Amino acid sequence: MKITKICCIGAGYVGGPTMAVIAQKCPQIQVTVVDLNEERIAAWNDENLDNIPIYEPGLDKIVGEARGRNLFFSTDVEKAIDEAQVIFISVNTPTKTFGKGKGMAADLKYIELCARQIAKIAKDDKIVVEKSTLPVRTAEAIKSILDNTGNGVQFQILSNPEFLAEGTAVQDLLNPDRILIGGDSTEEGAKAIQSLVDVYSNWVSIDKILTTNVWSSELSKLTANAFLAQRISSINAMSELCEKTGADVNEVAKAIGMDSRIGAKFLKASVGFGGSCFQKDILNLVYIAKSYGLNEVADYWEQVIIMNDHQKRRFSSKIVQTLYNTVSDKKITFLGWAFKKDTNDTRESAAIYVADDLINENAKIAVFDPKVSRKKILADLDYLESRNAENNANAILSFEDPYEACKNAHAIAVLTEWDEFAQYDWQRIYDSMQKPAFVFDGRNILNRPALEKIGFVYQGIGS
Ligand code: UDX
Ligand code: ADP
Repeated sequence: MKITKICCIGAGYVGGPTMAVIAQKCPQIQVTVVDLNEERIAAWNDENLDNIPIYEPGLDKIVGEARGRNLFFSTDVEKAIDEAQVIFISVNTPTKTFGKGKGMAADLKYIELCARQIAKIAKDDKIVVEKSTLPVRTAEAIKSILDNTGNGVQFQILSNPEFLAEGTAVQDLLNPDRILIGGDSTEEGAKAIQSLVDVYSNWVSIDKILTTNVWSSELSKLTANAFLAQRISSINAMSELCEKTGADVNEVAKAIGMDSRIGAKFLKASVGFGGSCFQKDILNLVYIAKSYGLNEVADYWEQVIIMNDHQKRRFSSKIVQTLYNTVSDKKITFLGWAFKKDTNDTRESAAIYVADDLINENAKIAVFDPKVSRKKILADLDYLESRNAENNANAILSFEDPYEACKNAHAIAVLTEWDEFAQYDWQRIYDSMQKPAFVFDGRNILNRPALEKIGFVYQGIGS
């Protein structure tokens, strides 16, 4: 099947950038991204490209080039489904907050709604592509809904997981390590796979496009994220040991990273990983393993999460202990709230949990993040349901200027590794703070000797 029209349901961190790049690279294909969220679609259509809802370096330029030509953002979900030959599902799959699998299994409500809607509308054969990260065997559920509630048309389900990392989404999409496409091993399945291979081969070399069966593709996504997260928890575990023994985790990471079997990436000790994928995907893996009675497998992977939770809590405890065991009414300034640099995404950011701990100790948290609004910060805290919204609002101050944020603070905590933090005038910051002036560098990005020379009491991770 030659693809001329693509629809993507879900205009979020995955759907938006991915479709923008497909549209840019395939001008012959009309790409329509739909979402129920009217505000989000309006933002994607905003004439001022600074206002598109997702901050990713380089994304504004690509949207600017393709939008209105062959890239469209709309709330008319039905029309887009009806017209497309290929429908990507990129909706959110949050962890369940209720019932069986609470806190662990993925809530597939939005996926099911999409499947039912596609089934209702489709009047000709369609290829449905799972783009969201999903538990293994979700394709089977989607297929069952489509086949049982559809209008007798044929559906092919493909799994095409997204490996882009936020903050580098555009580069990752333009130069992917690999594209993975899973499909049925029937003749129709092979044809559907080929149609999608033809889309990607507009800019990705064919040797980087891997085709597998559906379950391998779904499981590969969870496995990739579990392995990456495991590396971070492994180095973070070592960071605690380094602090006790006098070793330096940066030196250890460098030394082991030069072993070509280990490799240098994903060995940065930190205040703990965040983001929408790692925790959710590992919890999914744990849940699936448990549901097959594979308790050792489940326990093995769960430890990655336990270590990560410990790392976040260890950071807040260290702040309290160092500030003479009390942070009550003390201003503590957070540099960074996003879960990593170069994104405005805050999902599962370590900052949320560290702030929550410190607010429990009656601290006043001042936040400066170059891309995150106060509204988002408060929404993140309210989501934890640790206290009421008014108490959260009273405990959080937020600033548009980093120097204002740091004024009169007892301590500064670096939660996100934004490049600009290392470039600040740290003498000016020191002069405006309470003394002793403490810095807790949760990302090991500041120049320790320079800060100590100014007079700061500096504590990094793992040294
Ligand atoms: C991740 C995967 O990398 C991506 O392939 C998948 O599609 C989605 O999940 P993302 O969550 O966007 O991407 O960001 P990533 O760069 O993987 O970072 C995740 C978290 O780990 C961040 O909080 C980051 O700060 C932290 N991290 C990363 C470390 O603490 N140390 C490291 O060495 C690397
Ligand atoms: P991700 O990081 O996976 O892209 P996001 O939460 O950023 O997740 O984006 C998912 C988007 O999917 C949201 O904007 C949400 O409004 C949208 N969405 C969820 N369910 C539906 C649906 N049934 N139809 C259209 N859009 C949906």
